[in-house]
Amino acid sequence: MTTTGHRFDALTAEYMRAAGSWKWSTPGESHGRGLIGAFVAEMDYPVADAVAGAVRRSADASLFGYLPDAWVGDMAAACSSFWGDRFSWAPDPAWVRPVPDVLTAFTATVRHFTRPGSPIVLPTPAYMPFLTVPAMVDRELVTVPMARDGDRFVLDLEGIDRAFAAGAGLLVLTNPHNPTGRVLDDAELAAVTEVVERHGVRVFADEIHAPLTFDGHRHRPYAASSEAAAAHTVTATSASKAWNTPGLKCGQVVLSNAADAEHWTATGYLAEHGTATPGVLATTAAYRDSRDWLDEVLAYLDGNRALLAGADLPGLRVTVPEGTYLAWLDGRGLDLDEPPSAFLAREAGVVLTDGAACGDAGRGGMRLNLAMSRPVLAEALDRLRTALFDT
Ligand SMILES: Cc1ncc(COP(=O)(O)O)c(C=O)c1O
Repeated sequence: MTTTGHRFDALTAEYMRAAGSWKWSTPGESHGRGLIGAFVAEMDYPVADAVAGAVRRSADASLFGYLPDAWVGDMAAACSSFWGDRFSWAPDPAWVRPVPDVLTAFTATVRHFTRPGSPIVLPTPAYMPFLTVPAMVDRELVTVPMARDGDRFVLDLEGIDRAFAAGAGLLVLTNPHNPTGRVLDDAELAAVTEVVERHGVRVFADEIHAPLTFDGHRHRPYAASSEAAAAHTVTATSASKAWNTPGLKCGQVVLSNAADAEHWTATGYLAEHGTATPGVLATTAAYRDSRDWLDEVLAYLDGNRALLAGADLPGLRVTVPEGTYLAWLDGRGLDLDEPPSAFLAREAGVVLTDGAACGDAGRGGMRLNLAMSRPVLAEALDRLRTALFDT
C-alpha cells in the first residue's frame, strides 16, 4: 500500500525540501523532477511531542548553561530503564555517561582504552566515518570485508582473528549494523567474544541503532552477552537515530565493568564536555516519555520495509534490514561503467549513499534510507525501477 492514512504520509518531497534538512538539500534535478534524498541517516518524521517539548522548555527557561549532575543522572536512569525494558539489560546508571555523539565516544575509547598505537579492526561495508576517523586519532585501520550467508551479511571471524594476530587492539562492532541492517544473534556474539578474548583485545560496541530492531529479531547488547564481553567492551549508543535528534548532540557511553568505569572517570572529561544541555533533556524525554512514538515509527518503517521487499528492482540485489532504516542495494550485477549510485542519482533522481564510501567491500553497492513517507518511498522505488528497466 502506498498510502496508509498515517500522518507521516503527508510529508511530501516539497515539504521536506522547504524544511531544508541535509537529506533533502542535494541541488539539482533529474528529468525535470526534484531529487529524492535517501542518503544520510536521518528520518523525515517530526520528533516526538515530549522531545520537542523538552527543547522548547530549554529555550523558554534559558536552560543553555552547563550540565548539572542531576540532569545527567535523569538521562542515565532513563536510558538504563529503556535498555532494561527493551533489551533485558539495565546498566548501572552511574556507568551511563554523556557524550555529544557516538563518534566522540569512539575517539575517546581509542585514545583511553586501547594499546597505544594499536590498529583498529573494522568489518566492511561500514558506517562511513569509521573509515576515516581512525587516521585522525593516528591509528591504522584494518578493514575486514563481511561475508555473505545467503541474503545475510556475516562477520568474517577468521579475518578478524588474523587482524588481531597481526597486532590490532580494537574491534568496531556495530550492531544493529549500518549499512547492512544485520542484527547479530547470540551465537555470532559469542563467536566474537571467543576471538577477542583469545587475543586479549577490546570491543567498541556501537549500538546506536538498537531501538530500531524489527519484530522477528532481537537486539542483545554485546556487553550483556557474557561476563567476558562486559569486561572488554565499551558500548556507545544514543537516542539520536531512533528519535531523530542527531543535531541535539547527546549520546551515551555505557561502561560495563568497575575498572573501565573508574578509568572513564579519570579520562572521560573532555569527551563528556561537548554534550549539549538541551540534548540531555530531550534524550531523557525520548527514553522515558516517547516509547509510544518509537513504536509508531517502527510500525511505519516496517511497512516501508515491506514495500521495499515487494519492489521490482531489476538487476539489484536487495537486503531488507533486520534493524535500522537503512537497506543495502547491491548493484554490481548491473555491470555499469560508473558507480550505480551515480547512475541512479542522474537517471532516477534518487540520492543514495555510494557503497564505496562504506569501504572497498561496498563498491558497487548503495545504501537506501527508508525513513521517508510511504508515498515518497513508493515514488522513489518507482523511479528506481523505471531507470533500471531502461538500462
Ligand atoms: C552505526 C552508526 N554509528 C554512529 C553514527 C553517528 O552517530 P553520532 O551522530 O552520535 O556520532 C551513526 C549515524 O548514522 C551510525 O549509523
